[in-house]
Amino acid sequence: MRVYRGHLMHIGGSPELMQARDHLVSIPDGVLAVDDTGTIGFSGRYDRLPATYAEATVVDCRPGFLLPGFVDTHLHFPQTRCTDSYGGGQLLDWLQRCIFPAEAMLADAEYARAVAGDFCARRIAVGTTTAMVFGSAFPEAQDALFEESCRTGLRTVSGRGIQTVGPDAAAPLITTEDAAITLTDSEIRRWHGAGSGLAGVAVIPRFALSVTAATLHGLGELYDSVRGSGVYFHTHLSENAAEIDSVRSSFGVRDYLDTYDGRLTGGARSLLGRRSVFAHAVHCSQSELARLAETGSSVAHCPTSQLFLGSGTMPWRRTADAGVNIALGTDIAAGDEWLIPRVLNDCFKVHISEPAGQGLSITPAELLYTATVAGARALDMQDRVGNLDAGKEADFVVIAPDRQVMLPEVLARIDSEDTDRLLFTLLMSMREEAVGQVYVRGRLLTAD
Ligand code: GUN
Ligand code: ZN
Repeated sequence: MRVYRGHLMHIGGSPELMQARDHLVSIPDGVLAVDDTGTIGFSGRYDRLPATYAEATVVDCRPGFLLPGFVDTHLHFPQTRCTDSYGGGQLLDWLQRCIFPAEAMLADAEYARAVAGDFCARRIAVGTTTAMVFGSAFPEAQDALFEESCRTGLRTVSGRGIQTVGPDAAAPLITTEDAAITLTDSEIRRWHGAGSGLAGVAVIPRFALSVTAATLHGLGELYDSVRGSGVYFHTHLSENAAEIDSVRSSFGVRDYLDTYDGRLTGGARSLLGRRSVFAHAVHCSQSELARLAETGSSVAHCPTSQLFLGSGTMPWRRTADAGVNIALGTDIAAGDEWLIPRVLNDCFKVHISEPAGQGLSITPAELLYTATVAGARALDMQDRVGNLDAGKEADFVVIAPDRQVMLPEVLARIDSEDTDRLLFTLLMSMREEAVGQVYVRGRLLTAD
């Protein structure tokens, strides 16, 4: 047993976004007691620590903050080394000129292993304990990712990126329609639930434009057969205007979401559900949002990426009001920030600047909620991770202000009881160097 002493900050209980502020917990002299199985046994004030922990080793993290591990619900493993790639245009140009060729390099298993090492090391460095990871087309590269994730102790859901059609630049990433199904099926059998349950598999067609209607049909059948085992679904949705035009003309749909919702060919199964995560959803119609909400599907909101590719931004109010769970994604490598609080920083700025009277100032509690609880919910893990309540698995990060130039001075100006201001400044101003120790299920993670 170990107890960690520091300033606890998290969203307790299981509130909806709108109730985040009422559930914000801030305990300046707080403590987290973690038992030998990696479960939080006590979370609260240090002076209330139960006597059962009297003999436990105390890890003094003061003047650090103890926050839940960050949850990144959308980033691309094969794009680990591709941030800030110049595509000379928006999404479709960037994919063809920069991304498809870079992803093709992971056909080399040795290279893929090196990239998997970098990928997991970056996640640990920025405190992203849980992630939904868009995978490589190549099974050996996916093996390397899952092996490294399990070795280092990260919590990872991933699946190979499925492509059965596309431009010449994507040719190395494309398989036959049959192989798309069998490779995905074998990845599920091999990795879903591995690493004592820290690894999970998702069915991931890259986006509607990279698969045929027949592939979507086959994936619907496959997904229906594995849903009950907790397998996930993940893809991109309605990110960019040219992409949406092309989806409409290729599939003859009005709503992009219909391509994933079993509406293309008679009798096809829907890919939506409470373990389905759709990246972006920038330009969704009201009925698409209603359908996402009704099925319990989540959106991975990626504001940093949307700025980089000029995609526009997901309308925060409209999406939240429709009842859709909004989680956060870095979208490495269209997003060029690995640290989830940096993405929160962009999130705050783009939404306060939304046009046509839609601008709003997202509260600090809602920011923390989006980066933690909403991510856990998107991955159907809200009973295990996302906050620091007793009974949860001990996934947490120590934020050590004194590692970052001037952060202690900036925070010192704020009364430690003024929770809103303190949390806002901490989340908005922290950089990677302020991330100290990172724990998953009570285990201290290191990349070595
Ligand atoms: N849509 C299809 N593929 C991608 C990708 O790799 N990144 C982003 N941002 N959007 C996509
Ligand atoms: Zn993406």
